[in-house]
Amino acid sequence: MNDRPIGFSTSDKIAYGEQANMHLHVVDPERRDRGYGVECVRRSVDIYFERLKLKRLFCEPNAFNVAPNRTLQKAGFKYLKTHMTVPGPLNYHQAVTRWVIER
Ligand SMILES: CC(C)(COP(=O)(O)OP(=O)(O)OC[C@H]1O[C@@H](n2cnc3c(N)ncnc32)[C@H](O)[C@@H]1OP(=O)(O)O)[C@@H](O)C(=O)NCCC(=O)NCCS
Repeated sequence: MNDRPIGFSTSDKIAYGEQANMHLHVVDPERRDRGYGVECVRRSVDIYFERLKLKRLFCEPNAFNVAPNRTLQKAGFKYLKTHMTVPGPLNYHQAVTRWVIER
């Protein structure tokens, strides 16, 4: 924002030309819940689809973390399911919601 970073997005589980997962964080809590998350998810999605030639992109936040679940729905992701899993190497076993966007 104004040429300064306010967060970051990453992608993993990449199958080039097919699918990937994405993550997004607004780092400063003061800057959350102001609409930046939805806008940044939309822009990140465009980048991932273009650069990775994707057909579908997933995001799997903790099921009880309201902000990312609201954000993904607002940014155009479709809800698939809620399940128990270990989403990544840094995570513990937890309930996650699986969202997808397809193009
Ligand atoms: C998740 C995150 C990226 C969303 O970005 P954001 O800028 O806060 O979100 P926005 O302001 O664009 O809001 C998007 C929606 O989330 C809701 N929301 C945001 N923060 C919320 C909170 N703390 N509690 C409940 N709802 C919240 C907004 O109300 C909005 O929904 P609505 O308009 O339908 O009511 C950001 O909050 C964040 O980085 N959080 C901490 C890290 C995290 O949980 N990352 C996700 C891990 S998968």
